[in-house]
Amino acid sequence: MNASTTPNVYLPKIAVLDRVVDDIAEVKSFYWHFEDPEDQKAFRRFRPGQFAQISLFGAGEFPASLPPSPGEAETFFTIRRVGRCTAALHELKPKDKFAVRGPYGNGFPMEDYVGKNLVFVAGGIGLIPLRSCIRYALEHRSRYRRIQIFYGMYLSNLREWEKSDGVECHLTVDRSAEGWAGPVGVVGSLFTRPGVQVPVEDTIAFVCGPPVMFRFVIKDLRTMGFKEQQIVSTLERYMKCGVGKCGHCCIGVAYVCVDGPVFTYEQIQKLGEDI
Ligand SMILES: Cc1cc2nc3c(=O)[nH]c(=O)nc-3n(C[C@H](O)[C@H](O)[C@H](O)COP(=O)(O)OP(=O)(O)OC[C@H]3O[C@@H](n4cnc5c(N)ncnc54)[C@H](O)[C@@H]3O)c2cc1C
Ligand code: FES
Repeated sequence: MNASTTPNVYLPKIAVLDRVVDDIAEVKSFYWHFEDPEDQKAFRRFRPGQFAQISLFGAGEFPASLPPSPGEAETFFTIRRVGRCTAALHELKPKDKFAVRGPYGNGFPMEDYVGKNLVFVAGGIGLIPLRSCIRYALEHRSRYRRIQIFYGMYLSNLREWEKSDGVECHLTVDRSAEGWAGPVGVVGSLFTRPGVQVPVEDTIAFVCGPPVMFRFVIKDLRTMGFKEQQIVSTLERYMKCGVGKCGHCCIGVAYVCVDGPVFTYEQIQKLGEDI
């Protein structure tokens, strides 16, 4: 391939916003498509757990997970408004344009987990990177054994997933709220509720959420007998290039943008990451 035909990995492609869905306070899902159908086709080869770089004209660029599974018809991002770029995305209206490059990162090795039980544990918006894997596992249901999901913010999705064969969903809230009759407490408290049995043998635990939740859930899983290699998560780092060139996302010897964002807990410990 000569220089003129080599794809430019840094080049954002124009995307068009289709619709916006309010999820929870300050969090919205943005459904979109690439202006050029060829870009759309190329992008849809992403793997669960990969991410993309989103550009907002005049504001900047930021990384975001891909919550849909590759098999789902619509492409979307679920984004919390925290600063300049995410706020600019939140201001967009249907038909407005922005730009996207990617997909980047390693993604979850779902092929390696064939024949295993899958336990998904998420806190807050931690379900965003896990949603793609959950959907993927349901679309390939016969490849996996038990599927358990603890907590989540995609309430409508959870109700839908619960109807799937061999899928259990367990929800909790931090504080008791009007109209909520379910469990109250940290997500790890669900593991020991009557009737809940988490298999340890041949199981992969996917854990994503705020650092405080992560630390407690890891402790619970380790007490239950999970080995460090059986626990997987995603790491977040400031990113610029997204393709292993600039060094902004380095943790020890790893670039989160190419070696991650998916790491086993064993790898996270070896990298010396304190989460
Ligand atoms: C691989 C990856 C996937 C991500 N997926 C999602 C997603 O699906 N949905 C989503 O809402 N967010 C996601 N994020 C986080 C998102 O990239 C940041 O919230 C975004 O960059 C903030 O940009 P901003 O310009 O709005 O905020 P800024 O103005 O840059 O910062 C606002 C505040 O957020 C903090 N901040 C910004 N970026 C990060 C970061 N990467 N890590 C920790 N703190 C940060 C800053 O310190 C500051 O306090 C992901 C990050 C990574 C690395
Ligand atoms: S963001 Fe540039 S090396 Fe990872």
